Amino acid sequence: MVRGHVFIAQSLDGFIARSDHELDWLEKQPVEGEEHGYGEFVEGMDGIVMGSNTFKQVKNFEIWPYEKPVVVLSQSLPPEAIPDRLADKVRLTRARPFRLMQALKEEGWNNVYVDGGSVIQSFMRADLIREMTVTTVPILLGHGRRLFGALDRDVDLKLEEVHAFPSGLVTTRYTVLPGETSDAD
Ligand SMILES: NC(=O)c1ccc[n+]([C@@H]2O[C@H](COP(=O)([O-])OP(=O)(O)OC[C@H]3O[C@@H](n4cnc5c(N)ncnc54)[C@H](OP(=O)(O)O)[C@@H]3O)[C@@H](O)[C@H]2O)c1
Repeated sequence: MVRGHVFIAQSLDGFIARSDHELDWLEKQPVEGEEHGYGEFVEGMDGIVMGSNTFKQVKNFEIWPYEKPVVVLSQSLPPEAIPDRLADKVRLTRARPFRLMQALKEEGWNNVYVDGGSVIQSFMRADLIREMTVTTVPILLGHGRRLFGALDRDVDLKLEEVHAFPSGLVTTRYTVLPGETSDAD
């Protein structure tokens, strides 16, 4: 099966965006000159699977930030939601996580960057995430879009690496130990 990987930043209290999707708290961090490993991480991926909420945010960026192909999971976005300038870079799917990963495997993908809180949660429930790099930002937000959510079993993690940066950001990398694979999610 294709391996799912997470590379994401959260507040200390576990939020990846404010409720209105604002990332100002992340953007204001004094990280100039720090290398948090994103470039090397993304180099090892065959492509990116993201939730529609994350896509709605990144499609407004001045510069499209991905060189690898992007698959957007959405039950509601119409094809016109993909701007013409992104037509050869982004595709939409309504597939469930397990079926999507099977289809990507058939296309030759081995490692997928899984992005967006709700999508990470559903891939985690389906046991499709094998590695997670979480950068914790020294701030409490109190409200917002959560990185993690409800699970129907424990998920065991093995800590592989920790790095504390001068800015106060702390990067932790975990292997996610396999559980029961479910194709129901
Ligand atoms: N801090 C960071 O590093 C970081 C990283 C990534 C994203 N973000 C931010 O975090 C926020 C993400 O928001 P989010 O957690 O609400 O969204 P998300 O995971 O990006 O998108 C969730 C949406 O995807 C669609 N979807 C389709 N299939 C799904 C499935 N199997 N599981 C889950 N969702 C599925 C659903 O909408 P429809 O089916 O109705 O389209 C769902 O509401 C955004 O503001 C983004 O900018 C932050």
